[in-house]
Amino acid sequence: MLLGVASAKGAPGVTTTARVLAAVWPTEVVLADCDPAGGDLALLARTPAGEVLDPDRGLLSLAADARRGVGARDVAAHLQHVDGGTAVLCGIGAPEQMTGLGPMWPTLAQLLHRLPTANVVADLGRLVPDTPVLPLVQACDALVMIVRPSVEAFGHLRERLRWLASLEQLPGGAPAVGVLVVTESSDRRSATDLQRLLASSGITVPVLGTIALDRHAADVVQGRLDRGLSRSLLVRSVRSLVPSLRALADTRGFAHAQV
Ligand SMILES: Nc1ncnc2c1ncn2[C@@H]1O[C@H](COP(=O)(O)OP(=O)(O)OP(=O)(O)O)[C@@H](O)[C@H]1O
Ligand SMILES: [Mg+2]
Repeated sequence: MLLGVASAKGAPGVTTTARVLAAVWPTEVVLADCDPAGGDLALLARTPAGEVLDPDRGLLSLAADARRGVGARDVAAHLQHVDGGTAVLCGIGAPEQMTGLGPMWPTLAQLLHRLPTANVVADLGRLVPDTPVLPLVQACDALVMIVRPSVEAFGHLRERLRWLASLEQLPGGAPAVGVLVVTESSDRRSATDLQRLLASSGITVPVLGTIALDRHAADVVQGRLDRGLSRSLLVRSVRSLVPSLRALADTRGFAHAQV
């Protein structure tokens, strides 16, 4: 199963959410850093021994091997393990490197989608209609859009959701899409307001819930603070969303099975 995490604009917390999701995912999982603007993972994450990751082992080395025709089982050679045990596929260091990867995205998307032993959580960064990772977006079983509660963020999200719906008309189709709002844990209104706004625009994408705005925990995830995380509001809120995300991914699997 391939689960994409992305945003329409701004920095609402895609990377943070993807990292926490991978950490709490109930099955074997790979965290794939596929942000076309340049990955943060290789800069932020550390090995269990506290060392920096090897930036040359990841998407670029996998793409080089994929040119020679490797299969999904060979992806393991390009993974590294970070503190906490998560297996990660490091991203590109700079957006220029996307150019070289461009023609390989359909192959990379298939490799990540068909990983035999693990689910994949992919950080897709900010989605724009000419995103180079479009094949990966289309290969996702589920794509979760992260947003903060503000009028302009909701407006940009609505436009991106329209674009995502339009992918249904293209070969490769569209993933099942859901939305998560990063907000104060006491905020009971934003998710409902957003759902109502989307409905009034004729968009049926579900708002699946909220991720707790938890600055301390987010700082720990980013390596700015050293502290246990498992009982934080952030981790608890993300963990509680896992069943909804798996169910969302199943809806596309079901649709594929009907074709
Ligand atoms: N749930 C959260 N609670 C509090 N702060 C958060 C949360 N998620 C992310 N942040 C903070 O917001 C900032 C942006 O987070 P992050 O890098 O995860 O966003 P992003 O959407 O991946 O951004 P970009 O598009 O630049 O890659 C960081 O300072 C991070 O610590
Ligand atoms: Mg990011």
